[in-house]
Amino acid sequence: MDAISVIRTKRDRGELTAAQIDWVVDAYTRGEVADEQMSALAMAILLNGMNATEINRWTDAMIASGERMDFSTLSRPTADKHSTGGVGDKITLPLAPLVAACGVAVPQLSGRGLGHTGGTLDKLEAIPGWQAALSNDAMLRVLEDVGAVICAAGDGLAPADKKLYALRDVTGTVEAIPLIASSIMSKKIAEGTGALVLDVKVGSGAFMKDLDNARELARTMVRLGVDHGVKTVALLTDMSTPLGLTAGNALEVRESVEVLAGGGPADVVELTVALAREMLAAAGQTRIDPADALRDGSAMDVWRRMIGAQGGDPDAKLPVARETQVVTAASSGVLTRVDAYAVGVSAWRLGAGRARKEEQVQAGAGVELHAKPGDTVVAGQPLLTLHTDTPERFEYATEILSDAITIAPTGTTFEPTPILIDR
Ligand code: URA
Repeated sequence: MDAISVIRTKRDRGELTAAQIDWVVDAYTRGEVADEQMSALAMAILLNGMNATEINRWTDAMIASGERMDFSTLSRPTADKHSTGGVGDKITLPLAPLVAACGVAVPQLSGRGLGHTGGTLDKLEAIPGWQAALSNDAMLRVLEDVGAVICAAGDGLAPADKKLYALRDVTGTVEAIPLIASSIMSKKIAEGTGALVLDVKVGSGAFMKDLDNARELARTMVRLGVDHGVKTVALLTDMSTPLGLTAGNALEVRESVEVLAGGGPADVVELTVALAREMLAAAGQTRIDPADALRDGSAMDVWRRMIGAQGGDPDAKLPVARETQVVTAASSGVLTRVDAYAVGVSAWRLGAGRARKEEQVQAGAGVELHAKPGDTVVAGQPLLTLHTDTPERFEYATEILSDAITIAPTGTTFEPTPILIDR
């Protein structure tokens, strides 16, 4: 077998054989297939696609590149959630303890920010003392003791994906549905969760900008999960405007704690509860309504123990950025659009995300919204507050936002996009 013949097969719109897929994924992981050869193959896959049989085999090969975790010794069923990434998407933070409070264990392996989208680990690291890295044994212990754990995936889990994802990131090949689906699902299947709920985002702030592509991605991932014995459900949810009122690490932790305390923005609460219900149903546990667990404080109790188990202090003051700048409404009327992508890029450039892999994020940086689409606004009122430790970034961040906000004349009827688009 050689890399050139595999590349030619896909370049010429052929179907890759199981042997070709097994070989190329394994040889790439071992360094026998070069980065330039794998990037040519990834581009051929992006342009010419893969059929269901190929995607299944590719996913199997990525799973086989590393270890598989096993939660069968736990005393409760497991369910996990994966979001395809968005702006202000802090849902994992309240969701994991909420589902655990309702009797299902949540082994949540999470990632860091990617481009304009925030990362769960970066957000939690805003909490003084909290550590993302856990050994497999420690993860299992927290899961058994607390019921929920959010941590970084170890190097042993789907190493082929780790290498391929970094390559796709710099070769314009992220947006290939077969590669996204196999990347996400290989990690989730190797992680060993019993049930999985996928939050597939659609809109300007998502990787999938249109509904048809998002639907195809959702179907592809659900099929992969079901074919691998994982009870898998997908929700299509709106990402045309930021979720909640904050985008940025410490800002989003604060908002998540508000949700766990029974408050918080309506869209964050609605999506958290909807995903929790799906996870509980998929794990066969429907005795407790998650809305009650938010109200009665039991989800907050799990949150506090979960943060403490990883060295964090749930009572510590969260970091605050050194400087702020306010963006005001240019006219009076009805706010009809706050573009998720622009807010995400702005938060990222203020320091909430990284421009290069090795950069540190600023815990306090980000964007705070003071109004959401549908609100009536008055000229001059604050619409956004930008937070950063490095004020020289304000100019670029405000420039990105210059076309992000639409205010329609007073009296305009506004039809909000529902957060839950389809299941
Ligand atoms: N998230 C992943 O884990 N993989 C992708 O390919 C895209 C988003």
